[in-house]
Amino acid sequence: MQPIVLGIETSCDETAIGIVRGRTLLANVIASSVDEHARFGGVVPEIASRAHLEAMLPSIQRALTDANVSLSDIDAIAVTAGPGLVGALLVGVASASGLAQGLGRPLYGVNHLAAHVSVDYLTHDQPTDPTIALLVSGGHSSLLQVDDITGSITKLGATMDDAAGEAFDKIARILDLGFPGGPAIGREAVSGSASAIDFPRGLTTSNDWATRPYDFSFSGLKTAVARYLEGTPTYIRADVAASFQEAIVDVLLLKALAACKSTGIDSLVIAGGVAANSRLRAVAAERCEKAGIALRVPSPALCTDNGAMVASLGSLMVSAGRPATQGAFDADSSLKVEQVSL
Ligand code: KG4
Ligand code: ZN
Repeated sequence: MQPIVLGIETSCDETAIGIVRGRTLLANVIASSVDEHARFGGVVPEIASRAHLEAMLPSIQRALTDANVSLSDIDAIAVTAGPGLVGALLVGVASASGLAQGLGRPLYGVNHLAAHVSVDYLTHDQPTDPTIALLVSGGHSSLLQVDDITGSITKLGATMDDAAGEAFDKIARILDLGFPGGPAIGREAVSGSASAIDFPRGLTTSNDWATRPYDFSFSGLKTAVARYLEGTPTYIRADVAASFQEAIVDVLLLKALAACKSTGIDSLVIAGGVAANSRLRAVAAERCEKAGIALRVPSPALCTDNGAMVASLGSLMVSAGRPATQGAFDADSSLKVEQVSL
């Protein structure tokens, strides 16, 4: 029998509940408080926590209805234990703990970043560990070697300043494109020229390739865009968006493919909110095909934060015979990517 696992995600502004049976997705409910944050230009933690409290029970109810299962059918609960906003995480952890105790079911406190990567295992038949994973979200940009998604993740590199999603959000703000910035830049870029402006590719000098080949830096790019806008009053917004997007996509893929090559691992997963970007998906497909690398990218709706990814990781943990999280546990706002579960 395949385990039925309910996953709860509350690390940022989405109250998200997923239910899976084994590797089959049964429900994926997302209640977002993004509209309440938009006028502040970013997520306000206090507002996010309160919104999670309000949305939790109705979202669980709806997920059970969508999945056509009852609470007593749930074999295990998984919850994002970190990283994320601590007040937001705590609502999820407290809800999951109560549910697990009430039902007498095991509870898995899991890592949000590993969960982003694991959602791909719902879509693709055979998990092909080891794989290289490019994890690009609002809070993180990392290159990972995944030998076992339920317990063995090695960080090859990460951003030294802004995350890729953060760069999208900041540039969108100065281009007056609103929040969240990633999707807005993606839309604006469609009518622009990606080669109009040659923005810098961070950490790609020969010295960088020798000393920190898998690290990223996007703050120089952000400054370059700001300077360009200041110095070019007649700038074409779509060209700036497209050229900025191209610089990010180019450097992310240069480093991801280099990691595949040097480790000899010919499989790449791209995960996290920025993986929803259509230019990133298109260029990745092109370059991976040329390099003979099997590319896996979850559907756009499963790239941004969702509950299915947490349920997916929980289900993989159950199937691998990994122990559940023991006793009461705290949310860990800065949980390291290498720690898949608590
Ligand atoms: O994974 P995610 O939903 O939340 C975090 O864990 O941070 O990622 C959110 C980030 C935001 O910065 C958002 O602007 C970016 O992902 N994003 C995108 C797109 N959709 C979301 N960036 C570029 N293109 C997109 N289509
Ligand atoms: Zn995320």
